[in-house]
Amino acid sequence: MNLEQLEMTAQGMAAPGRGILAADESTPTIGKRFDTINTESTEENRRAYRDLLLTASGMEEYISGVIMYDETIRQSSDDGTPFPQLLSDKGVIPGIKVDMGAKALAGFDGEKVTEGLDGLRERLSEYYGLGARFAKWRAVITIGEDLPSYACVDVNTHALARYAALCQEADIVPIVEPEILMDGEHTIETSFETTVDVLSALFEALADMDVFLEGTILKPNMVLSGYDSSDQASVEEVAEATVTCFQRSVPAAVPGICFLSGGQSDILATEHLNAMNQLATEKPWKLSFSYGRALQAAALTAWRGEASNVAAAQSAFLHRAKCNGAATIGGYAPEMESA
Ligand code: 13P
Repeated sequence: MNLEQLEMTAQGMAAPGRGILAADESTPTIGKRFDTINTESTEENRRAYRDLLLTASGMEEYISGVIMYDETIRQSSDDGTPFPQLLSDKGVIPGIKVDMGAKALAGFDGEKVTEGLDGLRERLSEYYGLGARFAKWRAVITIGEDLPSYACVDVNTHALARYAALCQEADIVPIVEPEILMDGEHTIETSFETTVDVLSALFEALADMDVFLEGTILKPNMVLSGYDSSDQASVEEVAEATVTCFQRSVPAAVPGICFLSGGQSDILATEHLNAMNQLATEKPWKLSFSYGRALQAAALTAWRGEASNVAAAQSAFLHRAKCNGAATIGGYAPEMESA
């Protein structure tokens, strides 16, 4: 295990002005995204779509790393360059999703546990050979009446910690992602309490497994009102609640906190990140993004599966990447949207 390399990779992922593109949708999930633009999910269409994102000229100014799916990390650009090489040639760190998805948790209705630990050591070693220097594992926690259960939080944080230890053994930085879903009628206070509880359990599990925090990136949800709540917190309230939540539960040794967007509109996801970075309070970690939908929605709509729309899709992607890059240093302003 090379601690120095792990630390340098993690710092590079959370470098100011840049953030992570989550382009690791599984084949069923990218199929759902393609359905919205009436595009068939063939292997070639998936490759062409990822190609347009990864070859967008200048994306490396705002994007520090890209999370790929197993199929994508083995694919190549139009000119034959393998995607991981294309990325590292422009100073973007290649990453890989390694979990095998969230499955129903036996005995706990409505809750899930993420699978994929079996054989993970061997898969990580292969991914390292393919160029991956960081990985992602997503756990899913639901807020509801009497949810989440202790069991759900316990098994998911335990799995995240075992995954993280295996990654570091392979010199791969683990992104640990305990996603508390934003769906539901709950208040921002409930989201706050649940997020503090889950993150506290996560860092206890990581400590038990001797995970090197300086070589780890946290990918959390923001603390928001449930999407179906009648009382929606303001951007400032979200920023304040989210940062306070981390001050109470995320050790200062963690170099970067890179948010998921979780179904927020792309502009709101940018505004929230920007407001957090503008808060005048102690923030010992970098606050950045690891967005999927919030970085890709506009690009996907512009593309529509047509080669003739590639340039328009790339410019939509670069625009969102630029706005979010600015938000990582509190430098985003609404006027950027029309610039
Ligand atoms: P969203 O930003 O679309 O939530 O996706 C991020 C991600 O990678 C979830 O695992």
